[in-house]
Amino acid sequence: MTEIQKNINNVLTKMIVYSDGNKHDIAHFLKVYSYARMIGEMENLTERQQETLEIAAVIHDIACPVCREKYGDTNGSNQEKESPELVENFLKDVEIDTEMKSRINYLVSHHHTYTNVDGIDYRILLEADFLVNADESEMSEAAILTARERVFKTNTGKKLLTSIYKLPAEEA
Ligand SMILES: [Fe+2]
Repeated sequence: MTEIQKNINNVLTKMIVYSDGNKHDIAHFLKVYSYARMIGEMENLTERQQETLEIAAVIHDIACPVCREKYGDTNGSNQEKESPELVENFLKDVEIDTEMKSRINYLVSHHHTYTNVDGIDYRILLEADFLVNADESEMSEAAILTARERVFKTNTGKKLLTSIYKLPAEEA
């Protein structure tokens, strides 16, 4: 096993424990992680970008349990407020450098913001989360088509979305 795989497995294990028996949360982040890993690899991310993306995908909803308890919902702005401290604590004993930790923290804290997407890691996290949320929230085909136009930028992400949701082919 490589050091990166060890880190990812460590983060996966910690996040499963953190989820405290909430099987929906666990299934959600495992799905988002799988899509993010796959899209990242197929879009040729650097090793560093890939590790950043994979860790961010595993912990992207870290603020949800706290938000449910504190505010009674998991809306984006509350998650944004609660995420930074939670991510910092969670990553304390993960063996990655400070710069990567801060990028992961930025991605997790901003994964509900669809503007100013400043990197491929950020873009793929949005795509992977959408691929899963569209199903979990039974989104309408019209909403999914709009997202394909506005949110999805990678070829791999678009292909997955089109195939999973049986969308008509994109117009050239
Ligand atoms: Fe999510």
